[in-house]
Amino acid sequence: MAPLYLHLLPNASRPLPPLRHLNLAAGASATSLAPRHLQRMRADTRWSSMSMSADTMRPVVEAVPMAAGEEQFDWLDQWYPIAPVCDLNPRAPHGKMVLGISVVAWFDGSDWRVADDTCPHRLAPLSEGRVDHKGRLQCAYHGWCFEGRGTCQFIPQAPALGPPVHKNNKARVATYPCVVQNNILWFYPRTEPEHRDVLQRKQPPYIPEIDKDDPSYFMIYGVRDLPYGCITDLDFGTFIDLLSTVEFDQEGGLPFKMKIEEANIDGFHSNPKEDWGFFKFVAPCTLLGSPFGTVEEPEVRVVFFCVPVAPGKSRCIWASRYKVSGWLDKMMPRWFYHMGSNAILDSDTGLLHVEERNIAAVGLDNWHKACYVPTSSDNLVIAYRNWFRKYCNHQIGWANPTVNQQLLPPPTPTRDQLLERYWSHVMQCTSCSAALKRMRVLEVVLQVASVAVVGFLAVAKGNVVTSVVQRAAVVAVAVLCFAASRWLANFIEKTFYFQDYVHAGK
Ligand code: FES
Repeated sequence: MAPLYLHLLPNASRPLPPLRHLNLAAGASATSLAPRHLQRMRADTRWSSMSMSADTMRPVVEAVPMAAGEEQFDWLDQWYPIAPVCDLNPRAPHGKMVLGISVVAWFDGSDWRVADDTCPHRLAPLSEGRVDHKGRLQCAYHGWCFEGRGTCQFIPQAPALGPPVHKNNKARVATYPCVVQNNILWFYPRTEPEHRDVLQRKQPPYIPEIDKDDPSYFMIYGVRDLPYGCITDLDFGTFIDLLSTVEFDQEGGLPFKMKIEEANIDGFHSNPKEDWGFFKFVAPCTLLGSPFGTVEEPEVRVVFFCVPVAPGKSRCIWASRYKVSGWLDKMMPRWFYHMGSNAILDSDTGLLHVEERNIAAVGLDNWHKACYVPTSSDNLVIAYRNWFRKYCNHQIGWANPTVNQQLLPPPTPTRDQLLERYWSHVMQCTSCSAALKRMRVLEVVLQVASVAVVGFLAVAKGNVVTSVVQRAAVVAVAVLCFAASRWLANFIEKTFYFQDYVHAGK
């Protein structure tokens, strides 16, 4: 799903992209498993770039250089989502990197807690530990136990009658303010005591539509780590490109008007009265809208949280609100919907991974010169890049001062690394990991069954299985079991590990 503006880039007067060697066209074709509403949109819509009106062609937001404003965005004075609660096992610690810092989240029996993912004893990662029966986080290395506020409560090696070394301040682990909102665990990236009550002053952005108890809608949450930074992620790839890409219409994208309103340090939104959808950016990482309807009648309301992880890495947490169109909709498990969501993310991943490096090569300052963004469809991208320039001076305020702003990781050389799903999604998703386990068991059962049936035929031939027809039926069952196990193995590989996405084959 290539963003439209990439296809509009002129050959002249533009710096040469340095990463053309990455082969994005090789590999097998993928089956489109997008949710039905997306497939329906694609099938029912016949738009052509030739139908763009002059008005639509004119950008409403000018991509001009902006001087750094006096008001600077404070990345450390923000709430960041860690994960949807449905993807957090309360019986285990969860390690995540956010804004350049490694944190561990765990459930202490009454609340979710977030702490530095570093044991004060010998700096082992606490996320490799366990949650004990008292809800304490226990380090896996030497067994130190920490309660929800970070206090060390137990050091196994300390003599019971010796000095209470666990009470020493050096035995504490730093904890962060955290809260569950919109079924998502959020944390505030400051550990100093003066920020302990930050929730009274500042809350994470609340999205009432996610919590709305409406039986005609249902919510699907998901999470995936992406091999490009949150700025590229927030380039509205997943939103705007959904409407304006060549995949939406094989003949070439969808023109639509988009006017930006109320742009300030806290974000901006599009005009809710536009024909096509409504989009809102809440700094630093929340993006919501209704790409397939008006704000009054959203067919689907999608919320993306594009979480800064590290330079060149981001995490996309999404919450999609689907309209119930049949009794089957609500019964389908989350992993079924994630097949479509992952295919959509795959379609952008290779493009955005390279795009980010191309933009870094020409310099973030030169974005507006290097990219040719002539239509109003690009207005959100332009507005976002202008926001990043004006209020952030092209810098993310990483919490970890050792993070090098300019240093992107080297380009991912192979497609299976770029589009791998297991570590980036399945391991973080309770629905997909449970489905994977069950399907693995079923695969083994089918293989054993096919061998057992053949064994049965060998033993029972002449006694139980006497006729040719009976023998043929038993052989057919064995072949079917074996074929089903092979089909399932292929399905598992494509759904949970890797499925190539070749635009040319779409
Ligand atoms: S490193 Fe954690 S208890 Fe020793």
